[in-house]
Amino acid sequence: MLEDRIRRPSLLERITTPQAAASLIEDGMIIGMSGFTRAGDAKAVPIAMAERAKTDPFKITLLTGASLGHDIDRMLTEAHVLARRMPFQTDATLRAAINRGEVMFVDQHLSETVEHLRSNQLGPIDYAIIEAAAIREDGGIIPSTSIGNSASFAILAKKIIVEINLAQTLDLEGLHDIYIPTKRPTREAIPVVACDTHAGVPYIPVDPDKIAAIVITDEQDSFSTIEPADADTQAIADHLIAFFENEVKLGRLDLTLDPLQAGIGTIANSVLAGLATGPFHHLRMYSEVLQDSTFDLFDAGKLTFASGSSITLSSACANRVYRNFAHYKDRLILRPQEISNHPEVIRRLGVIGINTALEADIYGNINSTHVNGTHMMNGIGGSGDFARNAYISIFVTKSLAKGGRISSIVPMVAHVDHTEHDVDIIVTENGLADLRELAPRERAVEVIRNCAHPSFRDDLMDYFERACARGGHTPHLLEEALSWHIRSRDTGTMKAEGGKDQPKVRLA
Ligand code: COA
Repeated sequence: MLEDRIRRPSLLERITTPQAAASLIEDGMIIGMSGFTRAGDAKAVPIAMAERAKTDPFKITLLTGASLGHDIDRMLTEAHVLARRMPFQTDATLRAAINRGEVMFVDQHLSETVEHLRSNQLGPIDYAIIEAAAIREDGGIIPSTSIGNSASFAILAKKIIVEINLAQTLDLEGLHDIYIPTKRPTREAIPVVACDTHAGVPYIPVDPDKIAAIVITDEQDSFSTIEPADADTQAIADHLIAFFENEVKLGRLDLTLDPLQAGIGTIANSVLAGLATGPFHHLRMYSEVLQDSTFDLFDAGKLTFASGSSITLSSACANRVYRNFAHYKDRLILRPQEISNHPEVIRRLGVIGINTALEADIYGNINSTHVNGTHMMNGIGGSGDFARNAYISIFVTKSLAKGGRISSIVPMVAHVDHTEHDVDIIVTENGLADLRELAPRERAVEVIRNCAHPSFRDDLMDYFERACARGGHTPHLLEEALSWHIRSRDTGTMKAEGGKDQPKVRLA
């Protein structure tokens, strides 16, 4: 029944086709679209926009919560619709266009985008395009499987296009907690004091007159593409579990740990799922994306509550969860990403942040975004929001990439996303480096001995010892510090020429 989904009768007249809604978008507009880690994205209007641009070219600035599903970023890139894109993406075609310099990508902390909008550093938003499970009688929008930046986009936009997705269960109603911070500089404390605090209302309050068009869709979210755990990710999880057990023994944590955050991607998901086998219980999550591992931990009886900004699942897990959503709903909250990732709340709750690095250097600086220092992978996402403010900031990575040709532990990272000051623990399949309270020279020994792959360990130690001989608080051989990356760029491997482990294959 459409009336169950659009409960304000006058809005029924605004139902239109995706093509008609897409025709409202004009060249040069700033568009804020729902979607966070492939969940709750608008699914019909952006595709109609890409179609239209083939014969009627136009360009926009596109803001979202985070990454989109349904190949939307690919289609918009191929149709040359994107002039500027922020704050995060994971699409291979868009990534290539960003790295060719064709799309201006602004890689932003996920908690900050709407602050920029509110303070007029960015915007105004011309149209917000928001997927919803329903619209209330008062015009309030009930989001679907993510909130991301949707609430502030809709509140701040001049006009709104709503996609009502019949494939999103109405059971989602009540899952969301929309709290918008008050004005600065007299902002009130954000009243989230526990993972399960409800601070706001379960819908996005908007003036119904701003809703310019409503499009009906009936399509599931794109499923997540994470790989199952492998021996390396299991080893990383095992090291972390041993670390947590020791923290409990030392009286710094109890077996419920502190609220957990786990970043996107295969490694972080596997690590979190690995906690199901440890002695921990009554775990809580204060995270941004809730992946399969969240529901694995619920089902294992290990997790009591999870707060996030989106739910992104594999197809098997989505079938299991959405068939029986009522079973999980009371233990879940979705929040705007500025609240799920808010420095104030993360620091208050003492979150344990687990994020993935592309590479780490011997002193603990982390590169999460730029392959070989220049080429964007996805973006910093929420990792900076959490790393800077977490009680324990953990970075995980496999010690080798690209079939062993690249070391993820390097003398100096070629791009810095998280400085050594924000990094407490680094874990690879080889071991765990606990960098807390260590000086740089001590950190380097810990990282090289515990985290580096044996095939690169001696070269790293040799670099470090020669650097120490030259002196300094954070010793480096500046003329050599990025030589591993230069070698990788030129030869496809970080291995020294003629080294005993010289790989046979080169990067394409
Ligand atoms: N140099 C070059 N490439 C590297 C690399 C390195 N040191 N380390 C990993 N890679 C490549 C892998 O080969 C892989 O490439 P492919 O897609 O061509 O196979 C890709 O990076 C992803 O690595 P993978 O090992 O599969 O890890 P992942 O899926 O867990 O993703 C990040 C890792 C860092 C890309 C991902 O976590 C990310 O984008 N992080 C930044 C955002 C973030 O942390 N958000 C957290 C809050 S949600």
